[in-house]
Amino acid sequence: MKNIPLIGYADKLSLRPGETVSFKVSSTLKKTFSASLKRSISADPNPKGIGIVEKDASKYFKTSSFKSRKQSFNPGSYAICKTPIKVSIKKNLNLSVIIFPTLSSSKQQTILAFDNVEIYINSNGATSIRVGNNSISIKEPLILRSWYKINVKISLSGKVSISQKNLKNKNEKDLINNGKMPLNKVLFGKVSLAAIVSKGISHNHFNGKIESPIINADGKKIGDWDLSNNTSSTFVDSIIGPKLLLKNFPTRAVTGSKWDSSEMNWQHKPKHYAAIHFHEDDIYDFEWKTDFKFIIPKNMPSGIYVMRISCEDYEDAMPFFVAPPIGKTKTKICILISTFTYSIYGNHARVDYKDSWLNRIKDWNAYPYNPANHKEYGLSTYNYHSDGAGICHASHRRPLFNLRPGYITFGGSKSPCSGLRHFQADSHLISWLHNKGFEYEIVTDEQLHQDGFKSIKKYKTVITGSHPEYHTKETLDALRDFRDNGGSLNYLGGNGFYWRIAIHKENKNILEIRRPEGGIRAWASEPGEAYNAFDGTYGGLWRRSGRAPQELVGVGFTAQGNFYGHPYKRKCFDSKFDWVFEGIKEDQIGDFGFSGNGAAGFELDHIDSHLTSIKDITLLAQSKASKDPDENFILVPESRLTHLSNIKHLPEEEILQADMIFFEVPGGGSVFSTGSITFCGSLPWNNFNNNVSKLLENIVNRSIKR
Ligand SMILES: [Fe+2]
Repeated sequence: MKNIPLIGYADKLSLRPGETVSFKVSSTLKKTFSASLKRSISADPNPKGIGIVEKDASKYFKTSSFKSRKQSFNPGSYAICKTPIKVSIKKNLNLSVIIFPTLSSSKQQTILAFDNVEIYINSNGATSIRVGNNSISIKEPLILRSWYKINVKISLSGKVSISQKNLKNKNEKDLINNGKMPLNKVLFGKVSLAAIVSKGISHNHFNGKIESPIINADGKKIGDWDLSNNTSSTFVDSIIGPKLLLKNFPTRAVTGSKWDSSEMNWQHKPKHYAAIHFHEDDIYDFEWKTDFKFIIPKNMPSGIYVMRISCEDYEDAMPFFVAPPIGKTKTKICILISTFTYSIYGNHARVDYKDSWLNRIKDWNAYPYNPANHKEYGLSTYNYHSDGAGICHASHRRPLFNLRPGYITFGGSKSPCSGLRHFQADSHLISWLHNKGFEYEIVTDEQLHQDGFKSIKKYKTVITGSHPEYHTKETLDALRDFRDNGGSLNYLGGNGFYWRIAIHKENKNILEIRRPEGGIRAWASEPGEAYNAFDGTYGGLWRRSGRAPQELVGVGFTAQGNFYGHPYKRKCFDSKFDWVFEGIKEDQIGDFGFSGNGAAGFELDHIDSHLTSIKDITLLAQSKASKDPDENFILVPESRLTHLSNIKHLPEEEILQADMIFFEVPGGGSVFSTGSITFCGSLPWNNFNNNVSKLLENIVNRSIKR
């Protein structure tokens, strides 16, 4: 594990005055580290722009020092009994378990362990049994991604047999091996699945699915677990024996050995979903100890804050987001902070990452670490586990490198592009608000999910950042209600409102994403695994659940390409909409910007009349996706039918575009959507003096004056 000398995280991203945030820090340095509070205005390290801008906030948190201490983390999911089992053996001990191995590894992989008895896969990929220091193995390696039933019989006289049966392929012969190993008369310990656990630390993690572990002593069951029990929980109630606790969030609601595609929803046939998928690299919540706490003072304004820590030559910055008390809003403008999307992308190791990007990082004094070089910290739901399964859980309760001021997502894009996404890209909007003197407060996705419409009800306008992609039913309902009750919803991004996520009931910091059926996605869910384990909802695109983004904001994802942007062309000359273009002489808008060098780029949204019931959407401006092969813009797969046709039955050039739109709804509410993820990147251009900035000023001014 590569050591990062000073790193930490805040236990909460979303706070309100009176609430407490705890900071968890690991420092391998000798001296004490100091912590100071800043308010974040700009997180873009590009020297061609305004750079990183933070305001001193020491009046709310006095700069303090804390003792350095190293904190560790222990990746890998497993199950362990809550209490130990004690059994005296008179004749024999039998163990059985069903497995679906998914990774061959030079490391030993524990399947089931009880005291000094362990069923595991050896470094040759063969099923093995160990009793004390002795072991025997099946001669042939297991075939990956096949279902096997493993049976082990151990007699007190020392006779041991291990057998395996392929449950799906009848042509594969049952295999057996026998040996002699002495068995203790009394066994005492916590049964574990998918790892061996000593002194609270897990080792020898198994990669794959485990189902139906049973332990039998002298013909009597002492442990029997149906792993489909309590699917949405972090524990499994037993049939016999103590309950199992699940550590590091293995994937549940996965198909088991009995699954035959007769049912796709785990809630309807739990017996078909009686397996749990474990991974050696599952790690979401580091569970570090708290180094210091901070109660948000009553007089601290809503905004984005960063707790900066430093020690010797190292520093780190832990962002958190402060909303006002519910109902006590002071401003007309609310910025919706996409904390769900930030977490879902947390530690995204990009496939196109190159070490050459480090040159720019050095030149710009940007945030130094990249998830691609520190996979041990746990990757994002845009990455895979070591066995190739998509990572479907996310959490901010660990250091997220890409949630740091100055982090660069793309290090090789054309100058003067900053190559930013998410937190840093959204700071283009935050710095614009400060530059233009617009007073604003923030509300995060988590708060919108928890508190609903009432958390945004009093604002005149809710403005999104560049990429509000991940949502729950609650957040979508709240935004719809805001719009339908007279609010102005300004969606300044692209590919928003796209995926449905689920939140764990026992730890709301853990998010789940399934990626079945389609969508621009980093991996595909396995057949039969479309339903979320956390809440039983049908996962995937909101469009597949009848709530396309077009229904909320008039446009939705249509095209993605490389990180390039282009200008919009003004399309609306109706005098009714002159207010949008007031002060703008040009018909070309946004031929510049710190994101992709243009206001319409990278991920584009368009109007689709099939996916919305909204009437009278006005196309204000439009940008056609570039045909330059370097830019590689493609139609989203959910809209593609054949190599010749798409779901709109139109030529592609008529649908691969960013549509900037405006519409009003009965009740006085309105929506402005940019149709592009790079829009906000143009705001700070020329010291915020440009036609994109002017256009947004017109939109926001109208939104708050209504
Ligand atoms: Fe995205």
